[in-house]
Amino acid sequence: VVDEAHLRARCRAFKEAFGEGAVLYAGKALLLKAICRIVAEEGLGLDVVSGGELYTALAAGFPPERLYFHGNNKSEEELAEALAAGVGRIVVDNFHELALLGQLAPRAKGARVPVLLRLAPGIEAHTHDYIKTGQLDSKFGFSLAGGQAEEAVALAAASNAVELVGLHCHIGSQIFKTAPYAEAAAVMMDFAARIWQQTGTVIRELDLGGGFGIYYAPGDEPLSPREYAAVMREVVAAKAEASGLVPPRLLVEPGRAIAGPAGTTLYTVGAIKEIPGVRKYVAVDGGMADNIRPALYQARYEALLANKADRPAVEKVSITGKCCESGDMLIWDISLPKAEPGDILAVSCTGAYCYPMASNYNRLPRPAVVLVYEGEAALIGRRETYADLVRLEVVPPRLQRRLAG
Ligand code: LLP
Repeated sequence: VVDEAHLRARCRAFKEAFGEGAVLYAGKALLLKAICRIVAEEGLGLDVVSGGELYTALAAGFPPERLYFHGNNKSEEELAEALAAGVGRIVVDNFHELALLGQLAPRAKGARVPVLLRLAPGIEAHTHDYIKTGQLDSKFGFSLAGGQAEEAVALAAASNAVELVGLHCHIGSQIFKTAPYAEAAAVMMDFAARIWQQTGTVIRELDLGGGFGIYYAPGDEPLSPREYAAVMREVVAAKAEASGLVPPRLLVEPGRAIAGPAGTTLYTVGAIKEIPGVRKYVAVDGGMADNIRPALYQARYEALLANKADRPAVEKVSITGKCCESGDMLIWDISLPKAEPGDILAVSCTGAYCYPMASNYNRLPRPAVVLVYEGEAALIGRRETYADLVRLEVVPPRLQRRLAG
């Protein structure tokens, strides 16, 4: 269930903090056509990372000039699609992509393709290993260490296919401190100053990525968009002044911080298994197929029994899903009112990286997505049916014959 007012409020908070045109919603967090339309209405840009995300945005009517096309292994087809659509920027990740653009862009109509170069600034963000991205040992971007980034700038500057507009980095996700962003801004600005002094290349846009942490469970202490904006701006302005650069336009790409808090997953309680003196398992009609995050990142969540929200917590239970995996746990040790089959368990802050990472493991159909706004509910993602589960399948005639016999 997506709370539209909350989603819009998060868009606005970022826009107010960073300014008009400075916020790109990272669509990987939650991308459905209806979400694209809300984000577009709120005046944000959109970061897409694949042909599929690009297709979704275009199908929703998202203005292509506000699209930033990301990805560490864009295929030739995806790049051609992005050029044909007229996306605002391509965020180039590697030398292979620069070469592909060199071949494709002259064939596409119009001027050179505006690009940002994604750099790996060599910064360790304090978050889960799987969602760190800015460190040297990363698959993403041109490394600052070792001169790759300089080489990429030189190639882009000399190319008649691309126009180097700016630089990008993304240091990781679910980050609660401003210091790693200050460090990233400083490293990126030092690099911008260096290439300006050495080659005269001017960096007009600096995109510092997303990663702003949200509250999931006690211990998570999110900062406001303003706090991040203030620190980033201060570092960019100081570095620009020190090196005589015009400060580049600052951009950010929040995904989780926009979609996460606006989403709630509703489950129905089914089987309950008590192992006396050990643990009580409360099973729900979903689990790792719709939320892989606890299994993948040891993510924590809070929940309540929606139909017993006014009752006191009386027992500690663990919430498990219905997949055939012992690791299919949603929440370990949560205090709830007495849970019974048929109760509705509402797990909060599931708006980001749940539905888009959902699978059909054990042939569980994906759940519906419902948008609520001013007392009304609207379906924005249909519940999958069993027929949907087999819609891509083909049984070769040879096997059909054998069965018929
Ligand atoms: N920009 C780039 C280039 C990114 O790679 C990402 C996230 C974002 C922006 C948005 O980051 P956010 O503001 O949402 O933290 N599946 C993981 C998170 C993976 C994030 C990947 N990149 C999770 O469930 O925690």
